[in-house]
Amino acid sequence: MTILITAGPTREAIDPVRFISNKSSGKMGYAIAQSAAEQGHRVILVSGPTDLDVPDRVDFIPVESSVEMFAAVEHQIAKVDIAIFTAAVADYRPASVPDQKIKKSGETMTLELVRNPDILGSARNQFSYQGVLVGFAAETENLEKNAREKLERKGCDLIVANDVSRKDIGFDANDNEVLLVFPDHTDHPHKDSKQHLAHLILEEAITLTSVSNPN
Ligand code: PMT
Repeated sequence: MTILITAGPTREAIDPVRFISNKSSGKMGYAIAQSAAEQGHRVILVSGPTDLDVPDRVDFIPVESSVEMFAAVEHQIAKVDIAIFTAAVADYRPASVPDQKIKKSGETMTLELVRNPDILGSARNQFSYQGVLVGFAAETENLEKNAREKLERKGCDLIVANDVSRKDIGFDANDNEVLLVFPDHTDHPHKDSKQHLAHLILEEAITLTSVSNPN
C-alpha cells in the first residue's frame, strides 16, 4: 500500500529571519512513517522542520509553511491508499512578509494574520480523495466531542485525539495517550510509547482500507 503522512510543525514567516511555529517535534508522525516502512509499505512523508532522522525507505518531502505542505499533499494524495495527518499546521500566517528584517520602532507592534488552507479539510472536497483518511485532533478540553465533530466535518474515517494540555503526552513527548474516534465507536488504548501507538494506528488504518474497499 502507499501511505501519505504529514508530520512536524509548520513555520509561517514574519520576515526573512523570524517565524510563527509550534512545539511539534515530529515524533508521532515519524513513528508512523517508520512503522509503515518497516512493514514494506511505500511511505511518503511530508514534514515540516524537525530534528529527527528521516526513517529508512521513506520518500521524504520537506516543507516549511502550511501553504507548502498543502501543495505537497495536493500533489501526492491521489496516488495513496491511506493518508494520515499528524502535522501541527498553523491555522494562520502573517498577511504580508517583507523582504527585509523588520526594524523595531514603537512600543507595540501588531501583526495581521490570515487563514491558512485547511489541508485535512480539503482532502475530500478539493482533492477528491477517496482513500482512508485519518486526522489527528489536538484538544485541551472536550476531547471526544471535539474530535467527533472534526471526524464528521472533515470526512475522516478515524480521528486520533490527544490532550495537548498534558506535559507527559502530545507535543514533544515520547509517549502519547489517544482516543481513537471512529464514526460508530470510540476506543481508548492505554498510554504508551509513540512507537507502539504508531503501530496500532497503522493497523487500524489498514483495517479500514478493507472496510472501505472489500475487494
Ligand atoms: O509532533 P509531536 O511532538 O510528536 O506531537 C504530536 C502532535 C501533538 C502534534 C500530534 O499528536 C497531533 O495532535 N497532531 C495534530 C495537531 C493539530 O494541528 O491538530 P488540530 O486539531 O489543530 O488539527 C486537526 C487536524 O487537521 C490534524 O490532523 C491536522 O494535521 C490537520 N490540519 C490542521 C490545520 C490545517 N490548516 N491543516 C490541516 O491539515
